[in-house]
Amino acid sequence: MSSDASRATRHRDDARRWPVGLEGLGYGGDYNPEQWPLETQLEDLALMREAGVNLLSVGIFSWATLEPREGQYELGWLDAVLDRLHAAGIRVALATATASPPPWLTRRHPEILPQLADGTVLHQGGRQAYRVSSPVYRRYALRMTRLMADHYGNHPALALWHVDNELGCHVPHEYSDDSAAAFRDWLEARYGTVAALNAAWGTTFWSQRYDSFAEVLPPRTAPTYPNPTQHLDFARFSSDELLAHYRELRDVLREVTPHIPTTTNLMVSTRNKWMDYFSWAPDLDVVANDHYLDAADPEAHVELAFSADLTRGIAGGDPWILMEHSTSAVSWQPRNRPKGPGEMLRNSLSHVARGADSVMFFQWRQSAAGAEKFHSAMLPHAGTDSDVWRGTVHLGEVLRRLAPVRGSRVRADAALVVDYPAWWATELDSHPSDAVHYTDQVMAWYRQLWRRGVTVDVVAPGADLDGYRLVVVPTLYSVTDDAAAGIARAAQAGATVLVTYFSGIVDEHDHVRLGGYPGAFRELLGIRSEELHPLLADERLTLDDGSTADLWSEHLHLAGAAAVRTFTDGPRAGGPAVTRNAAGAGAAWYVATRLDDAGASRVVDELLAESGVTPVLPVVPDGVEVVRRWAEPGPGVSPGAGAGAGSASGTASGTASGTASGSDAGTSSGVGAGTSYLFVINHGSRDATVPARGVDLLTGAPITGELTVPAHGVAVVEEP
Ligand code: GLA
Ligand code: GLA
Repeated sequence: MSSDASRATRHRDDARRWPVGLEGLGYGGDYNPEQWPLETQLEDLALMREAGVNLLSVGIFSWATLEPREGQYELGWLDAVLDRLHAAGIRVALATATASPPPWLTRRHPEILPQLADGTVLHQGGRQAYRVSSPVYRRYALRMTRLMADHYGNHPALALWHVDNELGCHVPHEYSDDSAAAFRDWLEARYGTVAALNAAWGTTFWSQRYDSFAEVLPPRTAPTYPNPTQHLDFARFSSDELLAHYRELRDVLREVTPHIPTTTNLMVSTRNKWMDYFSWAPDLDVVANDHYLDAADPEAHVELAFSADLTRGIAGGDPWILMEHSTSAVSWQPRNRPKGPGEMLRNSLSHVARGADSVMFFQWRQSAAGAEKFHSAMLPHAGTDSDVWRGTVHLGEVLRRLAPVRGSRVRADAALVVDYPAWWATELDSHPSDAVHYTDQVMAWYRQLWRRGVTVDVVAPGADLDGYRLVVVPTLYSVTDDAAAGIARAAQAGATVLVTYFSGIVDEHDHVRLGGYPGAFRELLGIRSEELHPLLADERLTLDDGSTADLWSEHLHLAGAAAVRTFTDGPRAGGPAVTRNAAGAGAAWYVATRLDDAGASRVVDELLAESGVTPVLPVVPDGVEVVRRWAEPGPGVSPGAGAGAGSASGTASGTASGTASGSDAGTSSGVGAGTSYLFVINHGSRDATVPARGVDLLTGAPITGELTVPAHGVAVVEEP
């Protein structure tokens, strides 16, 4: 299931839709009122009004409360909650309530419990204790979903359906007999014959030849290294199976409530590799993401920016919903550091700068009990006399002032190619080095561009690369012929392309492309590598520009390309380390090692100079994030019935997805073409001054040439 194929089939029904009746930018979070007495729920309403909350995710973990005994429903409390939210003018993203099956269900049907590769059964007591391939679980989840749709489909508060919750979060791969049966069906659909499966999996190796599909299993714990293509296909299947479950529930919701859009919250970040979200996106009416910082990462804000850009890429450039992040600490990392001064506001505006049109949190009110009681929330344990609460109220005010930004779009001249299946394949076992981590490479190059204030679109291989002047391809170990051809075409058309080591080695079946590495890009790059030469943990090499490198080297020959840098020591002393090949109207660069920061920085300076790609501003001080969104009138995403007339709700359809939504319900953005919004986010501890002109949307102050953003502060300038 290549993401390219899914994108190609995107049609009018897949045009993005926005939560019904949601005006301005969305603001709110997960709301779990069943954890609190009525008195507290009434206080919630007053405080939500004070904070300017307009969108809440409700009912995510409510199954056991809504159906305490099989077939006996207690919906009255939720009816009352939705009525009160509606009266308060708050829109609701209502869950299917299926994310955590109630104890009566797993007791009655223990056969729905998930299994690990070694046969370990995961039991009731946490959440998500179901196997997604279980026909029994599916039947119960469908019944619950239909009940929610029938009962709440006409509720005036209903704005959006929220299917399950973070599908695949805890059990991305499931190895039971149910999974085995579904995997076989999936393989039969993919390969048709067992002979084709044998060829794709290379099963003559180690006597793995299958005589029928019935003999095939998930890659359960085996005596030694499992078949890599089996692993890869199981990862594809697992992503598709979770998506199939989403689709099944979505179809019920569409049938009962065609007027309400449906989504599920993705987990796009450098830490979640198992769901191929590029292939999920066409099935989401609007893309929603949950993102959390790694408290131990001093540059967590750069990882956040990458994840937000990747989310926008998955959304095909359309606006998306930040469905969850945290006001302060989380509770599931080893050491859960609270956020520093202004950090929550900076995080929120980074997401908005990169395409989010809603900012939401896990969760509204911090729980007093349960596994997440130390996880921060909009309203903390301490109550309203707290910095977290004051931050919540302030953010609500900021988002109200940013309402005109809604529907505007980010533009980029640089693309970074990222692929989930390549990520999986790169990190399979039995490779030249187990120290090659996919996102390390991706982030190494992304970070360079972030620091310079160069905006990047993160795209799937096979995306339309037309119009990008710089295309960065980090460690794309596996690549299809089509995607490789698309990258070569970009260079022919004039782009500067950068490919880094351990790219283009295998096809989509994990079969090596013979004749010298990197098989898929040899011609484009004008090089041929006869042997890969990974380095030991403490080995360092020096290059002729004085930079150092580690992790990787190759026995590389020039076959048309010029050496831009050479190794001055180590196993390939005198050999090329960085190369450049003229290709049509553009050029293709190769980096055959892991450069240190200074070395990568010099290469990026040269790439930018050659491609003509420039930063958002001519001067970008250290630690300052700059991004621009552009208002573009045109056919809008369908805002849904009741969307706020006069609010800036229109957007053009995704350029990457290439489909005009053609929505008759589209509204124009209400701002002139050419209006842009400059986001300046100061992550540093010194005030920063940047060139800018326009109106500061947060203060209303005119900006006449220079803008000073205080340490840890933010500014958004509406530019004429
Ligand atoms: C995820 C889940 C939430 C909550 C948060 C905590 O995003 O969707 O239910 O567990 O993590 O960070
Ligand atoms: C052992 C096995 C071979 C092969 C090599 C690889 O010697 O007998 O089949 O796996 O290891 O080093």
